[in-house]
Amino acid sequence: MTDKAELIIGDQKLELPIISGSENERAIDIAQLRGKTGAVTIDPAFMNTASTKSAITFLDGEKGILRYRGIPIEQLAEKSKFVEVAFLLIYGNLPNKEQLDSFSTLLTRHSLIHEDMKRFFDGFPSTAHPMAVLSSMVCSLSTYYPEEHNFADKQSMDVTYARLISKVRTIAAYAYKKEIGQPFVYPQNHLRYCANYLNMMFSVPAEPYEVDPDIEAAMNLLFILHADHEQNCSTSTVRLVGSAKTNLYASVAAGILALWGPLHGGANQEVIEMLQLIQKDGGNVKKYVDLAKDKTSNFRLMGFGHRVYKNFDPRAKIIKTTADKILKKLGINDPLLDIAKELEEAALKDPYFVERKLYPNVDFYSGIIYRALGFPTDMFTVLFAIGRLPGWIAHWKEMNEDPTTKIGRPRQIYTGEVAREYVPLDQRK
Ligand code: CMC
Repeated sequence: MTDKAELIIGDQKLELPIISGSENERAIDIAQLRGKTGAVTIDPAFMNTASTKSAITFLDGEKGILRYRGIPIEQLAEKSKFVEVAFLLIYGNLPNKEQLDSFSTLLTRHSLIHEDMKRFFDGFPSTAHPMAVLSSMVCSLSTYYPEEHNFADKQSMDVTYARLISKVRTIAAYAYKKEIGQPFVYPQNHLRYCANYLNMMFSVPAEPYEVDPDIEAAMNLLFILHADHEQNCSTSTVRLVGSAKTNLYASVAAGILALWGPLHGGANQEVIEMLQLIQKDGGNVKKYVDLAKDKTSNFRLMGFGHRVYKNFDPRAKIIKTTADKILKKLGINDPLLDIAKELEEAALKDPYFVERKLYPNVDFYSGIIYRALGFPTDMFTVLFAIGRLPGWIAHWKEMNEDPTTKIGRPRQIYTGEVAREYVPLDQRK
């Protein structure tokens, strides 16, 4: 197979190199294009554009494959824990016992937030969306640890990564406690990562709280499934912001805001709201499938469709089975799960969805589990953010370690007015 592409522009012919990834994906390298021809490419929404090389996550949308650092998501979901997966993503390999111990110790040591930061929560209305609070708080961390923005100091960066992964739980739980008017619960160092978070979320000083091991296991699984997904909207945001040499906290704060959007991580909240709407409306699933097909309606089946997966989303497959298991174990009968299954069945039979290869994505069933675990709807995207954090960090680190990284700066095709004179106010029509 040729390793060059030929481009003809007018009477000019340009040879462009083709580069391959380790899974044989091919890309035409157009780095010299503008310099040699004056032309740029245009690719709205980056449908065909690789923004970077990356060694972190591989996914094949046609085959429904997702691997972190080469390890299939199915194996990680079955055998691993979130903290181990976080290490894998950030440092490239599964940790040995010693590495895992020292990483876990860092996570344990850095769980408290500065006492002054607790007062920040008072400044938000109790109706504030916790994603806005999370992003603001994560950005605020940069004001408390300004000395740790030195990328050349590996040891302090290791602390920064752990600090962020640890504190994000505390911030998320405090945002929830503030919203419902309960006292903040401090992290407990004897608890593991997910148990500690659950304790901060759901315990109250007035009575004892035991973390249910099934709930802890479900939390681990869901965080693992969300931990990375290569160059999605929020990760690309973290990379773009970070390419300006912006510190990690601020880059991640921007990523959180990108994730909040309903077409991205915010879809998990939207799915439950959609299912509740269908339930209120008498459970008429067909009506909503028809509405989603109607281009004048602006309604989409939330939790359906994916830019990359065109066969099935392997994460959705695992989550659907887990939803069944968890609800059964907890003895919960959630009518929304039945509506979700009916909706999926109806959509998968419908030519509109079949032709467009629209399948349930990671967000379709995750909210059903979060509900069963006791999380309010507006916290769902926050849970996605906690899970995605190791991925954001891994990408930010990979980009900063690459000496060829330049500031991200797309071109445009200008379609506005051509040059014209300034008209004084009294002469304007
Ligand atoms: N319901 C109805 N029609 C849809 C849907 C949907 N959920 N998703 C895509 N379509 C249609 C779309 O109207 C278009 O039709 P046509 O070819 O007739 O114009 C076609 O399918 C292709 O859609 P697209 O919007 O061009 O595809 P995209 O790759 O730009 O968008 C998506 C991907 C995920 C934003 C989109 O499928 C969507 O809006 N889904 C609902 C929101 C959602 O669940 N988001 C979570 C994504 S997965 C997790 C994450 O990234 O956070």
